[in-house]
Amino acid sequence: MIKALPELTISGRGGKQILNSRVLQSPLAGVTDHVFRKLVRRWAPEALIFTEMVSATKLSGEDIHNTEKELSEEQGPIGVQLYDHRPEILVEAAIRAEAYGAFLIDINMGCPAKKIVRKGAGSGLLQNPELAERIVNQVANAIQIPVTVKTRLSTYQQDSVDPLDFALRMQNSGAQLLTIHGRTRKQGFSGKADWFAIAKIKHGLNIPLIANGDIQNPTDALRCLEITGADGVMIGRGSMGAPWLIGQIDCALKGKSIFKAPSPKERITLILEQLQELLKKKGENGLFIARKHMSWTCKGFSGANNLRDSLIRAKTSLEAINLLEDQLLLMS
Ligand SMILES: Cc1cc2nc3c(=O)[nH]c(=O)nc-3n(C[C@H](O)[C@H](O)[C@H](O)COP(=O)(O)O)c2cc1C
Repeated sequence: MIKALPELTISGRGGKQILNSRVLQSPLAGVTDHVFRKLVRRWAPEALIFTEMVSATKLSGEDIHNTEKELSEEQGPIGVQLYDHRPEILVEAAIRAEAYGAFLIDINMGCPAKKIVRKGAGSGLLQNPELAERIVNQVANAIQIPVTVKTRLSTYQQDSVDPLDFALRMQNSGAQLLTIHGRTRKQGFSGKADWFAIAKIKHGLNIPLIANGDIQNPTDALRCLEITGADGVMIGRGSMGAPWLIGQIDCALKGKSIFKAPSPKERITLILEQLQELLKKKGENGLFIARKHMSWTCKGFSGANNLRDSLIRAKTSLEAINLLEDQLLLMS
């Protein structure tokens, strides 16, 4: 156990925002939807959780009412992550997200997907630091809440972009917090996140820095903080199928004893609840969204492989619900 870390202060133009937790749930496209975020908050009510990345154009288009409703129902601090390469579109989307109750606006400058990079957004902005500066500057001047940037170490090679220079440019343009995923764009998700490279950036900055990459449990989180000197950690893949992980890490960083992960039976109950919530929100389409969550969660007990295979093949939500309920009976 460690000495509890104090709260984290992020300064926006409109004043200070206080975060009572130093572990952040990362934005995960296709994963961190409203239903998943609600589960994460059950164990980590004070943690900052990010939306999946939202196209800035979409936020001002037809999806607007869904986004507004979801953000207004959020039970804790919510970061809205936007992507685009056009400052004026990002400004418009940020103003809307602020009005809906976002805790902060994060600009995605790390996404490696070709269709996004080709337009100059996501990690494409690493190659155009002047545009990245303009984006941050204009968004920061348009809203009261903090603007943050999530990015990677570099683009193609370790040295093709100087990560500290880029980070300083973001800081000087008005970013109030940076999250660094310790990989290059070229690496995608391969190799290991370089926590030592994150440390070099941290030591050159005045604003808070959040370290991200390869944190799977509370021990990793503590080691990452020790190596990087970062102000907090962000967790991505480790929480997929384990929405309680953020809460466990929160306990570790607050110097509290870490609660046990849910038992296999509790996990089945949880995934059944997640499926039913998704069905309520999305109709039968909820089954397709739930599939990946079901396969991540159904692990580590006898019969898990068979159950997983059957769930993936289930053609209707009723079939999937019956499979999960039968499994619960077997476990009682
Ligand atoms: C399925 C998936 C979806 C992701 N979606 C986003 C996203 O929408 N925005 C973003 O900034 N990063 C996204 N990422 C990257 C993660 O937020 C995180 O930076 C990366 O996975 C490294 O952290 P980890 O090792 O804890 O997973 C995504 C990653 C995965 C695996």
